[in-house]
Amino acid sequence: MKLMVNKLRAVGIVGLGAWLPEEKITNHDLTKLVDTSDEWIFTRTGISERRKAAAEEAASDLGTKAAQKALLSAQVKPEEVDLIIVATVTPDMFFPSTACLIQKNIGATKAVAFDLSAACSGFLYALAVGNQFVATGAYDTVLVVATEVLTKMVNWEDRNSCILFGDGAGAVVLQTVEKGTGFLSFDLGAEGMGAELLKVPAGGSRQPASLETVQNKEHFIIMNGNEVFKFAVKIMGETSIKVLEKAGLSREDLDCLVPHQANTRIITAARKRLGLSADKVYVNLDKYGNMSSASIPVALVEAVEKGYIQKGSIVLLVGFGAGLTWGSTVMKWVV
Ligand code: UT7
Repeated sequence: MKLMVNKLRAVGIVGLGAWLPEEKITNHDLTKLVDTSDEWIFTRTGISERRKAAAEEAASDLGTKAAQKALLSAQVKPEEVDLIIVATVTPDMFFPSTACLIQKNIGATKAVAFDLSAACSGFLYALAVGNQFVATGAYDTVLVVATEVLTKMVNWEDRNSCILFGDGAGAVVLQTVEKGTGFLSFDLGAEGMGAELLKVPAGGSRQPASLETVQNKEHFIIMNGNEVFKFAVKIMGETSIKVLEKAGLSREDLDCLVPHQANTRIITAARKRLGLSADKVYVNLDKYGNMSSASIPVALVEAVEKGYIQKGSIVLLVGFGAGLTWGSTVMKWVV
């Protein structure tokens, strides 16, 4: 993606918020469902527990709460929002979009609203899209929400995948910022050849819902963990190096890395590729597991709250996911 930086307005995150459901599922709880152990899960993934939405809670409910917090933190009124982009693979329903439901809930009466599907890379894709609208002057205020209720999409009999995922939401507000701050570069990519590695096969137009698809548990996540792992280790390092180059920065300039929270071994590989010390990487997957598109924004909120990121910090966000997809951005933090 070529950015015509000089002709465009500078754009940055001016407010952010996260929301997590209260109920926790510990590794110990999972040992009652599948043949696994706390020791296996923690050593292979780094996860200790994850959050679970209530039976009546859907993606728009979590996303609405995160969006309201982000607007409050940006001191932006809902009526001022021009565009809402929601990244999710667990929408309330096929249509209307979860973005329209959130628009209604928060009272963003003038906002255009749509969903974006890029799985765990969804937040980064949505940031890149939102950035374009503000940079070109088409819109002044964009709300990006990433919200997932993955616990309703996992097969609780599949130990390969059910241990990994959790629910949560994060949101950010994008506006113009001082030149030289905010987003400095983006790198996005897709590799459709890997589409089979991570998917929910049924329920769409390829395999509409039927008694058979339900009995075969084809409405749940199916994953080739090993292959996704190998892809993730390779791409996280590659895209991070590329996005730094695009920003004209080197690894030494980085103050904080906020990676997609899928597996500590993947994060450690990316950290080592960048030559970063562990204190410059924000990790919270021990508490929340993999929340797909919501992982990065929730981690970003915590990294700011805990002082890992401060005004002027150079921050790298990087993620990968089903599709296969990947994305990264480098920012000079403005709030
Ligand atoms: O956002 C993108 C989403 N997906 C990912 O990020 C997934 C990336 N992949 C991974 O994180 C890892 O591949 C996993 C954590 C899913 C699996 O770890 P692994 O080190 O790649 O294990 P494996 O799949 O090679 O399995 C090793 C063994 C197998 O047993 P055998 O065949 O060696 O006897 C598995 O059956 O571990 C077994 N196993 C388990 N054992 C206990 C798999 N899942 C479990 C489990 N508890 N939950």
